[in-house]
Parts: sequence; structure tokens; C-alpha cells
Amino acid sequence: MRSVFWEDNQLRMIDQRILPARFELVSFRRHADVAQAIKEMVVRGAPAIGAAAAFGLALAGYESASSSIRDLLADLQAAANTLRAARPTAVNLAWALDRVMRVAYSVNGNADDVRAAMLNEAQKIADEDVEINKRMAEHGAALINDGDTVIHHCNTGALATVDWGTALGVIRTAHEQGKRIHVLVDETRPRLQGARLTAWELEQYGIPYEIISDNMAGYFLKAGKVQKCFVGSDRTAANGDVANKIGTYMLALAAFDNGVPFYPVVPTSTIDLSLASGDLIPIEERNPDEVLDIQFKGERVAPVEAQARNPAFDVTPARLVTAIVTENGIAYPPFEESLRKVVK
Ligand code: MRU
Repeated sequence: MRSVFWEDNQLRMIDQRILPARFELVSFRRHADVAQAIKEMVVRGAPAIGAAAAFGLALAGYESASSSIRDLLADLQAAANTLRAARPTAVNLAWALDRVMRVAYSVNGNADDVRAAMLNEAQKIADEDVEINKRMAEHGAALINDGDTVIHHCNTGALATVDWGTALGVIRTAHEQGKRIHVLVDETRPRLQGARLTAWELEQYGIPYEIISDNMAGYFLKAGKVQKCFVGSDRTAANGDVANKIGTYMLALAAFDNGVPFYPVVPTSTIDLSLASGDLIPIEERNPDEVLDIQFKGERVAPVEAQARNPAFDVTPARLVTAIVTENGIAYPPFEESLRKVVK
């Protein structure tokens, strides 16, 4: 089942806030509710956010009562702005909205033709995502050897995409090719996408795994117990700097120090060639309650007065990246050249 799909004139999504305790679908008919769902992480993961936003914009077309193209486009532009503001780091959000808006502006017909073309484009974005992930996974799986133990950060699987996944998709394909793999799953504080979502997916695929707290990665890397690291990305700059879930940078540092290859798996829709370096990537800062609302033995851990910080992403400098896996092949340093080639 896809994590994001269109059914009965509405957008339906797996509610990722409550997994693995409960598996529930939520339905959307209004773009503002989709924007809210992206903010609250009902849907999350860069490609899944992009597809959700594309369908959200298609919904805005049906919400608008305008019969004139000019008025409809004005309503759509306002809806696109609302959706775009939901989360700043994953470039797939803006990329998908721009794609659907371009189609809306290019239609030669009446307002209903524009609505139909937008929905069609959103569906195309969703379908392409699955196909791209499978191609990317084939390229990436070639990097995995039989018997490898790999560290994976956050959740980059079917849930984070429309289906199959990016970094987890690589692991899944290698597993289907018959390679024996063991996955050390970073629990990924503070939202625990690893412990909750990646572990839940790996259970279903029958891939052996163990959850580790994020601060254990260095220990296992130094002990020579890990052959590769695979992560996703929310935005990768033209020089190969990789923004991804908070904690990725520390993992990359520890991998580099121990000579363990570090591979971001990144669809070209996540590569932002307009940004020369990762310093220019906007980093989302989320509610500190996500850090503070944690209990140990039934008690809140932090003092009630405690303040916290909660940057949701960090940037791994290109010098720590061994290679970047894309659907158009594997890009090696110097990334200024190789990323341009794969994007073309
Ligand atoms: O905050 P999230 O859960 O949306 O962050 C997700 C990640 O950081 C993933 O690694 C990234 O989106 C790539 S996954 C296909």
C-alpha cells in the first residue's frame, strides 16, 4: 500500500504519528488540512511530503469555485503558498508544488481542464516516485555485499516516500537480491522515526535489525562492526552538502573517522542545484516540546522549567560523503560536476 494516494476524490495518507501502535488512514479534502498534516508530521519524509503537497494543491483546485482561469490561478497561488510554508527544509515540497503550478499555468482550456491537469500531474509525481525509488535502489544495492551490517538513520522507507523508499529501499532491494544484511537502526531522537517507523518496516520485510540509540553509532563504527552507512536527504546542495535528519552529521563524522563508507540515497528531486552549498539550506526548528516530552520509568525526564532546542535537520559536509546514490546512477566526488550530470 502507498503511504500517500488519491482515492474517491480525496487524498488519503497513512497516519505516521501513531505507528507502530496503530495503523490508520486519514482522508483530506482541503489543502489547508494537508498543510497542517505536513506540519504535524502525519506525513513526513521528503518525497512523501512532495507528493502530499502536489495532491493538496490539486484539492485546492476543486475547493476553488472560480470559473475564470485568472481567479482560479490566484486561488491556487495562495494555496501553494500555504502548502509551501508547512516545512522549510525538504526541497521536494517546493519542487512538487512548482511542477503542479507550471502545469496549471500551461493548460489551454477552461478552469475544469486546469483542475483535471493538476490532479493528473500530482498522480504522475506519485507514480514516478515509486519508479525512481526502485531504480535508485538497484544502483544502491550494488554497493552492499552479502553479510554487511549497515547503519541507517531516521526513516527513509516506503513511509517516507510514496512507496519503496530511498536508503531503506536500497537495503530492501539488496535483501530481495538474497544478500544477508543486518541493519543497526538509529532510533533517531527526538521523533524516533527509526525506532518507530524503520523498525516497523523492517519487521514486515523480514530484514534482521537491532535498534540502537543514536549515541551508540560511534561505538559500533569504531569496533569495526559496521561496513556501510545509508541515509536519505531532505535537500542536497550543488556541492554535495547533504541536509538530513538531525544526527546525520555526527554519524557521518564517526563513519569518516573509522573509514566506513557513508552513502546518502537521494532522488534528483531532492538535489537543489540553485544552492551552492549546504550553508544556504533553511533548517527547520521545531517545537522544543518534542525534545522535552519524554518519560523514563513513567516520569518526565527534564525539570518542568527546562528549555530545549530542536533543530530538525543538520548538514553533512560533502567531504564526509563517499558517494550519492540517485536514480540516474551513483555520483562520486567532485560533486559539483557529478551532481550536475545526474540531474541532467
Ligand atoms: O522530519 P522527517 O521525518 O520528515 O525527516 C525525514 C528525513 O530526514 C529523511 O531522511 C529524508 O526525508 C529522506 S527520506 C526519503
